[in-house]
Amino acid sequence: MKIKNICCIGAGYVGGPTMAVIAQKCPEINVTVVDINESRIAAWNDDDVNNIPIYEPGLSNIVGEARGRNLFFSTDVDAAIDQADMIFISVNTPTKTYGIGKGMAADLKFIELCARQIARVATTDKIVVEKSTLPVRTAEALRNILDNTGNGVKYQILSNPEFLAEGTAVDDLMDPDRVLIGGDIDTAEGAEAVEALVDVYAHWIDRDRILTTNVWSSELSKLTANAFLAQRVSSINSLSELCEKTGADVNEVAKAVGMDRRIGSKFLQSSVGFGGSCFQKDILNLVYIAKSYGLNEVADYWEQVIIMNDHQKRRFAANIVKTLFNTVSGKKIGILGWAFKKDTNDTRESAAIYVVDYLLNEQAEVVVYDPKVKPEQIYADLDYLNTRPEAENRASVTIVDNSHEVAEKAHAVAVLTEWDEFIELDWSKVYDDMLKPAFLFDGRRLLNRAEKEQIGFEFYAIGS
Ligand code: NAD
Ligand code: UGA
Repeated sequence: MKIKNICCIGAGYVGGPTMAVIAQKCPEINVTVVDINESRIAAWNDDDVNNIPIYEPGLSNIVGEARGRNLFFSTDVDAAIDQADMIFISVNTPTKTYGIGKGMAADLKFIELCARQIARVATTDKIVVEKSTLPVRTAEALRNILDNTGNGVKYQILSNPEFLAEGTAVDDLMDPDRVLIGGDIDTAEGAEAVEALVDVYAHWIDRDRILTTNVWSSELSKLTANAFLAQRVSSINSLSELCEKTGADVNEVAKAVGMDRRIGSKFLQSSVGFGGSCFQKDILNLVYIAKSYGLNEVADYWEQVIIMNDHQKRRFAANIVKTLFNTVSGKKIGILGWAFKKDTNDTRESAAIYVVDYLLNEQAEVVVYDPKVKPEQIYADLDYLNTRPEAENRASVTIVDNSHEVAEKAHAVAVLTEWDEFIELDWSKVYDDMLKPAFLFDGRRLLNRAEKEQIGFEFYAIGS
């Protein structure tokens, strides 16, 4: 079976880049990305490709090449579902904020709405692909809805989790370590559906890197991969605190440990704490699933990764207060970086949000600069925490468009995102512009200690 028309529901960080790459690599397939968010779709359709809603290196060129040829962005969800042979569901699956499983379980209401809409609209057989990250056995619920509320058409449900990381989405999609496709491989129809999706990816990915499994393994592998990655960050971060007490240096420890090929060197960069939309949500989801099967030790084991991460963010902020003679009340603290990592404008669960919230509770005056994040996003992130009235966030936080304004008469500057441009800053000027003693806190191990101390900074870096 050859796929001719793909629909992707959800034009976000995953749906947008993934479909752009599929469209570029498969010119004979029409790809339509739909979303209920009209302004997001309008931005994807903006005449100037530099205005697409997601910043990823290399993405605007791909969209520029494929858009209007075989890549389309639309709000007409019904029409795209109707025309497609294959429908990717790539909507958000946030942590539940209400009811049973509040604060832990994945909220699947957007997934269910998609399933009900597909069932209502579809008049021909469809392959439905779970692209969103979902709890293991979600496909069972999808099948139930599709088979019981549909128009009698046949569905195959595949799981095809996405492993791209933000900031490197295009590279990750072009050259993935693996593509994972779970399906009902024991039936002829299921195997045919799996093969149809394998064929799509095989346009640019070697077949030996395209893994096929049963649906449940595929769903669970995605949660597991994120849990393992986050666990490495929490492991090294836990040791960063011990390094600070003992004179060991966390970068030296990470290097020494990571050179053991069984351990590997990646994902051992100590930081102010991991952020991003997925690590925390997916681990909480894993914890919830384990608990729901009565596996309390399994749940506790993984929950510790989150507990450690929260501790890391809090202790970084607390250390700023302690170092500034136990008070930051009325003091200007400059923040360099708001995104949860470099090369993205995404701020979801960024450590910066929590560090600044802590400092605001201590009555600091905060000034923020990030090269890609818009001011309204920074205020929205703080407002979302609901710690204080929105007007207070605006009164206490100033957002500027260059690093040097951050330093002007600041008592302290903290680096919270590892943007390359912060390495190249004129740090002597930063020092001159700050009040003395000039405290510099490096939450990313981005800066050279000897150079900064030479300039005159009182320098603190995570893990040394
Ligand atoms: P996102 O919030 O950026 O995008 C989701 C989009 O879906 C939104 O634009 C929303 O308006 C749209 N949507 C929701 N319900 C809809 C409906 N019923 N009809 C049409 N559109 C609807 O989310 P994202 O970051 O792209 O993540 C999507 C999924 O992919 C999540 O499950 C996430 O865990 C997973 N994932 C994300 C990443 C990442 O790097 N962000 C990586 C791998 C996997
Ligand atoms: C992560 C995974 O890497 C992707 O494989 C996965 O698809 C994605 O989650 C998802 O499911 O959403 P992402 O969150 O975009 O991707 O970015 P990462 O590079 O994994 O970084 C996550 C956080 O960990 C960032 O805040 C980063 O700064 C931090 N981190 C990462 C460290 O502090 N140290 C490290 O060594 C690595």
